[in-house]
Amino acid sequence: MDLHTNYPELSDLRRRAKRRIPKFVWEYLDSATGAETTKHRNRQSLDRIGFMPSVLHGEFDPDLSTSLFGADFPLPFGIAPIGMSGLIWPDAEGHLARAAARAGLPYCLSTVATQSPEDLAPHIGKDAWFQMYPPRDPDIRTDMLNRARSAGFNGLILTVDVPVASRRERQTRSGLTNPPRLTPRLLAQVAMRPAWAMGIAQRGMPHMRMLDKYKSTSTQGLSSTAHVGYLLRTSPDWDYVKWLRDAWDGPFMIKGVLRPEDATTLETIGADGIWVSNHAGRQFDGAPASIDMLPAIRAATTLPIIFDSGVETGLDILRALALGADFVMMGRAFHYALAALGPIGVDHLIDTFKKDLIANMGQMGARSLQDLPAPIDLDQRV
Ligand SMILES: Cc1cc2nc3c(=O)[nH]c(=O)nc-3n(C[C@H](O)[C@H](O)[C@H](O)COP(=O)(O)O)c2cc1C
Repeated sequence: MDLHTNYPELSDLRRRAKRRIPKFVWEYLDSATGAETTKHRNRQSLDRIGFMPSVLHGEFDPDLSTSLFGADFPLPFGIAPIGMSGLIWPDAEGHLARAAARAGLPYCLSTVATQSPEDLAPHIGKDAWFQMYPPRDPDIRTDMLNRARSAGFNGLILTVDVPVASRRERQTRSGLTNPPRLTPRLLAQVAMRPAWAMGIAQRGMPHMRMLDKYKSTSTQGLSSTAHVGYLLRTSPDWDYVKWLRDAWDGPFMIKGVLRPEDATTLETIGADGIWVSNHAGRQFDGAPASIDMLPAIRAATTLPIIFDSGVETGLDILRALALGADFVMMGRAFHYALAALGPIGVDHLIDTFKKDLIANMGQMGARSLQDLPAPIDLDQRV
């Protein structure tokens, strides 16, 4: 079967994924917060960014490679951290880490994933990053950093756009709790998705394995949500960032930055990379589209910029790079691909992005990612 014939675009994978995972899991993966206007704004703002086609360049194979923090990558994108990834598809963390390693791309593991750094150590490639939700206890903090480092993760990401718990109304409506409690309603949804159910039955109900080690007497008796909340103080401050900077000797990125002034301050206090993101609209429905903030943040810092939020195509990747990003990450897209077709779906999606990058760079006459033309605002042209 030629996957490019049957699934030429991410939307084809998304449609199939929706038919293969239970409703409550779909709502977890696909939803945003509030009326989901930030999520839609991400798409609308990306669509507004165009490029003038440039003709008569003759034949050429565009160079899609780039480098970040001194490492070379064949393609300018990677896999963003997703909590409870293994609930979305059985062994998602393993499948995605292996796919990233095969393609030579970075994979990020979330603190609240369903596999620990140790679980993933045999599967990661040369560039894997650990995303931290900040534990309040300094001993746990140090231990988590040591575990990530010893498992082979060489980049650290501190996510700062979850200072309070998000209200994800669509997800709540679906009946999903933390940990997932299989009520008769949820079980009915599971019964309709046999491939997902079999995979989960084989591996056991997913939970946040990294945190198992820290179940102490002080948190016994707390519900699982309270336990996670107790461990992971999700509202760090500037001192916390400085502490982490001193404690980690590899690339250190701050994820969830939208204000140019914050990027400047983060550079001053020693961050290595600014990760521009609105968490795909999952945290704050009043936030601007991440892509709209990119030019001002580019102007405010000399640090490498990593970008995410609603990227769905090679053209979207080019839009972000042309507006000042050095690297692009995607979260949901890879999970749609995995749920749709299994691990082969992830390889296929990477290849789809590659083909789309080549097709669009051909239209612009761009021979490399460093050679992209300045973007134009399509709304101003019509
Ligand atoms: C289901 C889901 C879970 C997520 N969990 C985390 C997480 O644990 N840590 C984190 O930093 N970001 C998390 N994110 C945000 C992603 O890392 C990333 O910022 C976002 O998904 C990018 O947008 P995209 O999904 O449109 O590509 C999550 C996103 C989704 C969709």
